[in-house]
Amino acid sequence: MKRRTIPLALVALVAACFLAIPALSQEDMTTIPDQGFAAHTRLPAVFNHDAHNEKAGISDCTTCHHGEKDGKRDPSQDTSGIPCSDCHTAAGKPGRTPLMRAFHEQCMGCHMAKKKGPVTCGDCHRPVK
Ligand code: HEC
Ligand code: HEC
Ligand code: HEC
Ligand code: HEC
Repeated sequence: MKRRTIPLALVALVAACFLAIPALSQEDMTTIPDQGFAAHTRLPAVFNHDAHNEKAGISDCTTCHHGEKDGKRDPSQDTSGIPCSDCHTAAGKPGRTPLMRAFHEQCMGCHMAKKKGPVTCGDCHRPVK
């Protein structure tokens, strides 16, 4: 009789992957936990989630965590906790802002508009102090 068994090595690998994901919440986030990029060429951008938003005076989660309706951005839908990469892929899809641009536009867009917050590469992609 033929039996299909999942190789132990595979089980161990999958388990290791889950354990490798740090159990962090946005309260102690210091960099963006972007799982969406296949490779990294820069240090992860520094972003102390709650402290940043408090300092910047942003109380509405949908300022960053928007949703989607009919292929368009839905500013009223709160998607807090859902990774941006669920909708914005690194490679991009037709009519969809690719992941890196989505982050850059959102972060730098506001910093430039407010004339506050970093806008140069090394001020975001730097070691956490
Ligand atoms: C306001 C902060 C900010 C600034 C300024 C900024 N970035 Fe980013 N960048 C991000 C965020 C957030 C991401 C997505 C999450 C991550 O990789 O940390 C990102 C992602 C990237 C990525 C894709 C991921 C990787 O590591 O390869 C590259 C490349 C990149 N940035 C390059 C640059 C360059 C070059 C500049 C300057 C022209 C720059 N960034 C300026 C915030 C910033
Ligand atoms: C200035 C932009 C911004 C604002 C405002 C904001 N967030 Fe976030 N938040 C982010 C980014 C960026 C991430 C990382 C997304 C990713 O990994 O793709 C994130 C991640 C999260 C996560 C996931 C934490 C983790 O460890 O992965 C939760 C939960 C969250 N935010 C909740 C909230 C809530 C609740 C609010 C409103 C009180 C809020 N956010 C406001 C930008 C923001
Ligand atoms: C539920 C799906 C979804 C999630 C989650 C999501 N987006 Fe979007 N986003 C969209 C759609 C749809 C559009 C409109 C089409 C486009 O430009 O890609 C959009 C547009 C954008 C744009 C283009 C300019 C604008 O403001 O319209 C930026 C920048 C952006 N998103 C950044 C982000 C960031 C950063 C995150 C995570 C904090 C995020 N998005 C999470 C669906 C989503
Ligand atoms: C809606 C506006 C807005 C958005 C979106 C935004 N920021 Fe900011 N950010 C600010 C403001 C305002 C400040 C200046 C706060 C102060 O010092 O008064 C700031 C400051 C910062 C600083 C300086 C250190 C700190 O925490 O105060 C960093 C780093 C930073 N932002 C990273 C990011 C990254 C990365 C993103 C995208 C995920 C982002 N910001 C999105 C408004 C924004």
